[in-house]
Amino acid sequence: MCGIVGYIGKQEAFPILIKGLHRLEYRGYDSAGVALVNDNKELNVYKTKGRVADLEEFVKNKDISGTIGIAHTRWATHGEPNNVNAHPHYSQSENLALIHNGIIENYSTIKEELINKGYSFQSDTDTEVLVQLIEYIKETNKTDLFTAVQLALGEIVGAYAIAVLEKGNTDTIIAARKSSPLVIGIGEDELFVASDASPIVDYTNKVLYLDDEEIAIVKRGEEPIIRTIGNVKKSHKIVELEVNLSQLEKGGYPHFMLKEIIEQPRTLKDCMSGRINISCDNVVLSGILDNKEKFMNARRIIILGCGTSWHAGLIGEYLFEDICRIPVEVEYSSEFRYRHPVIYKDDIVIAISQSGETADTLAAIELAKEAGAFVFGICNVVGSSIPRNTHSGAYTHVGPEIGVASTKAFTAQVMVLNMMALAIGRAKGSITEDRFQHLIKELGRIPEKVEHILKDTSKIENLSKIFTYAHNFIYLGRGYNCPVAMEGALKLKEISYIHAEGYPAAEMKHGPIALIDNEMPVVVIATHNSMYEKIISNIQEIKARNGKVIAVVTENDCKMCNIADQIIEVPASEECLEPLLTIIPLQLLSYYIAVNKGRDVDMPRNLAKSVTVE
Ligand code: M6R
Repeated sequence: MCGIVGYIGKQEAFPILIKGLHRLEYRGYDSAGVALVNDNKELNVYKTKGRVADLEEFVKNKDISGTIGIAHTRWATHGEPNNVNAHPHYSQSENLALIHNGIIENYSTIKEELINKGYSFQSDTDTEVLVQLIEYIKETNKTDLFTAVQLALGEIVGAYAIAVLEKGNTDTIIAARKSSPLVIGIGEDELFVASDASPIVDYTNKVLYLDDEEIAIVKRGEEPIIRTIGNVKKSHKIVELEVNLSQLEKGGYPHFMLKEIIEQPRTLKDCMSGRINISCDNVVLSGILDNKEKFMNARRIIILGCGTSWHAGLIGEYLFEDICRIPVEVEYSSEFRYRHPVIYKDDIVIAISQSGETADTLAAIELAKEAGAFVFGICNVVGSSIPRNTHSGAYTHVGPEIGVASTKAFTAQVMVLNMMALAIGRAKGSITEDRFQHLIKELGRIPEKVEHILKDTSKIENLSKIFTYAHNFIYLGRGYNCPVAMEGALKLKEISYIHAEGYPAAEMKHGPIALIDNEMPVVVIATHNSMYEKIISNIQEIKARNGKVIAVVTENDCKMCNIADQIIEVPASEECLEPLLTIIPLQLLSYYIAVNKGRDVDMPRNLAKSVTVE
């Protein structure tokens, strides 16, 4: 949700801010804006509906000079995406400009109070209320900007990452965060603030992360000063970024999503690296080793996540019950946090999140911690909020995922869950040593099998052309491949805007079968595993109603060639590892269909990569 970037240094700020906004555009992209203080100490704000490219167009022939500035790319929460609601927002006197990521929940009460005091508002946003409140406090208390921000944030209920600029001040940005990420970059004679490291990495690899309810004075030529809202002084370690530039660029691919799909053989290797040894006979996850007793004695595992991460969690349920014999519940974070769940002290809660910033998952984690459960995070973004707020965890190590549709993060989440299940199962003795050795070797072979699927994508590209103009899709799978069907359907709908349902194949006859006619494509994951005969019966039921079956099958499955209308082959594997293979063609199918339809694959409508509001 919303991207924030700020710069103070010796260079002109505008080009750096624009480059930063392009990097952050995956977070939200319905409008964009910038505020700069020029050498005459004037504060200029330019903003427009649309993409960052529209902002570049909009500022032509305008004064964009200045070596200090803040910029924003928006994902609308309050107020439709238009020029007025875009950030930055001026205060009434136009002496302050503010950008914000998050939601101010009590904005309407504050707005009413400020209107009664003579303030008028231009936009429908919650953000404008905050900048007006800061100005009101600054003027009535005759205080400096930092103190005014501190006092104003004390009155705010909700989530925020903000950056504020002041007319007449060419040296200072005030930045603060609560429940929305904010990082400060420390370069040679230059300082940055940003929602994540992507706009900073071109200039420095030294950063510090603000914690909740902290405010920073980011001042030219000085180390950032950090205090809490309650005015307690804080100091943070400067850490080195692990991200490199090539990870943030398309590297010749037309879209980040395609690059990220194709990268999966390597990202899966990276995910296993240092955890599965070369001879593939052991798995070492420090987060499990350090807490072995807790995992061995867990009464139950509760897995939390949203969207794709929730689908990975469903695969985790099959794995932990199958391999570790521990009962598992998989919960949508957003439901779990509000339904007064029963949580035991000997429960293990596993929170899965690519971004590590998903607001619902963060809140569900807090609830589980308050109830005394041990919380383990599976995240991709190093240093994000979830790894910092869980007791232990494992990173997926796939590098930045920029495409809004999650692909390589999903397979790595499933890989981590596999490694966890094997480590716990072996420690508990719930899996025989022979089976452990067999599975771990098979896991080691997964990257080359994914590579094999990706070697020639032309068949799926051609297939996509036949089905591009379908209005609906059904995806079916059983067992380990049931969550894969749901994930395949999610991928298709989010980037192509085609309605798609993912279902357990046997559930079809309890309702969705009514939808099947000769115009309905049904993608069935029908690999050669313990459910094979059952799924063939499900396919026959579809064919009997003239549905068009696209089957994902195990290589050389001649029987299926005669039943399905179209087949996509994947190499044979152990059943519990199949999701790592069967999801790949489904990612490609949705990608090509979306491209055929001319969709903006990396920035699909209404979505954002990191969902920091509930
Ligand atoms: O960062 P997270 O994994 O916590 O994000 C959860 C969902 O918002 C995310 O998976 C979303 O569903 C993706 N757009 C799916 O492709």
